Amino acid sequence: MNDIMKYIRNLCLLALLCAVLSCQERKPSSVGSAPEIERRVERILSQMTLAEKIGQMNQVSAGGDVSNYADALRKGQIGSILNEVDPVKINEFQRICVEESRLGIPLLVGRDVIHGFHTVFPIPLGLAATFDPALVEKGARIAAVEASAQGVRWTFSPMLDIARDPRWGRIAEGSGEDTWLDARMGEAMVRGYQGADWDATSMAACIKHFVGYGAAEGGRDYNSTFLTERQLRNVYLPPFEAAVKAGALTLMTSFNDNDGVPSTGNVFTVKDILREEWGFDGLVVTDWNSMGEMISHGFGADRKEVARLALEAGVDMDMMTYGYISHLEELVRSGAVRETAINQAVRNILRVKIMLGLFENPYVDAEAAAPLQYAPAHLEAAQRTAEESVVLLKNDGILPLSADKTRTILVTGPMADAPHDQLGTWAFDGQKEHSVTPLQALRERFPGRVVYVPGLQYTREHKERFDEVTAAARRADVILAFVGEEAILSGEAHSLADLNLKGSQSELLACLAGTGKPVVVTVMAGRPLTIERDLPNCRALLYAFHPGTMGGPALASLLYGDVNPSGKTPVTFLRTVGQAPLYYSHNMTGRPYNGETLLEDIEPEAGQTSLGNTSYYLDYGAYPLFPFGYGLSYTTFAYSDIALDRDEYPVDGTVRVSFTLENTGGRDGTEIVQVYVRDLVGSVTRPVKELKHFERVSLQAGERRRVEVEIPVADLAFYGLDGTKKVEPGDFQLWVAGDSASGEAVGFKVK
Ligand code: NOJ
Repeated sequence: MNDIMKYIRNLCLLALLCAVLSCQERKPSSVGSAPEIERRVERILSQMTLAEKIGQMNQVSAGGDVSNYADALRKGQIGSILNEVDPVKINEFQRICVEESRLGIPLLVGRDVIHGFHTVFPIPLGLAATFDPALVEKGARIAAVEASAQGVRWTFSPMLDIARDPRWGRIAEGSGEDTWLDARMGEAMVRGYQGADWDATSMAACIKHFVGYGAAEGGRDYNSTFLTERQLRNVYLPPFEAAVKAGALTLMTSFNDNDGVPSTGNVFTVKDILREEWGFDGLVVTDWNSMGEMISHGFGADRKEVARLALEAGVDMDMMTYGYISHLEELVRSGAVRETAINQAVRNILRVKIMLGLFENPYVDAEAAAPLQYAPAHLEAAQRTAEESVVLLKNDGILPLSADKTRTILVTGPMADAPHDQLGTWAFDGQKEHSVTPLQALRERFPGRVVYVPGLQYTREHKERFDEVTAAARRADVILAFVGEEAILSGEAHSLADLNLKGSQSELLACLAGTGKPVVVTVMAGRPLTIERDLPNCRALLYAFHPGTMGGPALASLLYGDVNPSGKTPVTFLRTVGQAPLYYSHNMTGRPYNGETLLEDIEPEAGQTSLGNTSYYLDYGAYPLFPFGYGLSYTTFAYSDIALDRDEYPVDGTVRVSFTLENTGGRDGTEIVQVYVRDLVGSVTRPVKELKHFERVSLQAGERRRVEVEIPVADLAFYGLDGTKKVEPGDFQLWVAGDSASGEAVGFKVK
């Protein structure tokens, strides 16, 4: 054996060993132990031609007739198909692969099942507002049960992009601005999709978009990002690392270039961090044509070059560039790419197919799939999740409404009866015929008592006069106005530069308020809109991130008090769009704002020196409309006697904080308790607060409970000046509160 051969053999053995070792941590698999799986992978790989290997690395979008792809499938030129959900067609795809291709390797069928399959749950930003990972996991499990029954075994979810700029339309698809919350939601979704054990209902999760995509400059989708390594490691990467640890089988690279390097060709993030530091041996797929887009970025001259760059970065599968299938063979033959790199990619793909049991069970029972869709238990879970996802932002006491005192109910606004739009972005498979709108739910609850005058047909409509609706308002006991934005105004490629309510919605609310009748507003939207100017025109306001199939009944239950609101804002609400980005865990400036003079208070003749000297906007100050973690309830909660078990902790210790939480109001309710920590002095400046724990605590009216929370000191570690992650001893502050802007700090030391 010559030296090169030995080198290659050793590399292969090393790769095999690494794969076996890293797989041993995995949850039990009905398809065999980790070493057995690796042996199967190697057995299949050893029989494959170079062309067949490259075929596995090719993902295409279905469309039209199965016969369009039959030949390519037969020849083993396609490893995965996305966007087919018809079980009959999927079975036929699988039959061609399994029975007519040389090696019978089944197909991996992917789909964007982002917040439910048929039964649509609230958009992920709403899921995050529940602060309830267990419920979110349940929703992901339901999505997997419905989708896998039709043959979809891979979802491109969860999206773990931190989003701190609500102009970015895809803020709808993630958990918002906070690293800790995002990580907990990501883990929950991974567990839910993939299930407790690998079986026919397991759907591989795909964590995306790796990485930094949510930091698009100006909040404009696909725009460049300029995140430093420290910012990546402290803020943007932890949710991905947590989801990898939770067992996510696959990951998607993002569209953006960060500091000049497009993610799909980023050796540092994919190879060095994901593969080597974290030991990820799952499947890495590009985003749709993100390999090809490296040409537009100006990172590679042609498809051949970007295919090589993606492979070198450690990307296993090409979604829709046709770069691998067209060029890898010649790249190998010319020596520009080594077949060992291809082998590694194919191992990662085959492993997922084996884990999912596709070799044993490539087919689904199309008839059995139907009754699972929109099953009553699924709808019930969707309603409960929607109820928990709604945030009460204002209430002068009018809510909950009394059925007796609201004999005539005016329902108005463009979102009152918008069955498609309440589903939100990425509800490809949710059918509006199954949506229950607020109008339907209220009519069902109060037959004959609901008057419906939409006022505006759609949110962007402009109108001068609202005669019909104001006349109806005068005759009503209560006005329930549903405003916001349609699904199409958020999501991918749907960024906005203006976040006020669109069209004449604000004017509609002003007219309604002008009647003197009580106005209760519900906003349904894909992002936190700038609603400051609308608050004076309502007596109460519920914020519902597009709530999904069961949004209507959920809102009716909240309005009439069957359910007490418990959602909290997963993202800061701005007063005006010019404040973006504004998020609670910002670093401390050298000149923190201390409530200085605003423009309106400055004398016209004042000279430059009379202006403030701190970090704020002259016209809008430095504070948001509502802080992160904020949300009211129909009851009130009081925190008292906050105590730490010690004054000082070792770096490997655990902070135990206890406190009394009391339901001081007249209704049972659930509070989302939040614990924030600040590291006062670091080798680099640290955020003014970081969420380190949250939990839902339910208390009956008048009930008091002593609650104890444990924060491992290790959770306070960060990447400091020397680029390593550690806890830096020193002084810390801790808050226990119901939102990120409340509470009194208690101090402790880490030695
Ligand atoms: C592009 C989106 O960025 C990504 O999130 C999605 O999964 C793919 N398209 C596939 O639809």
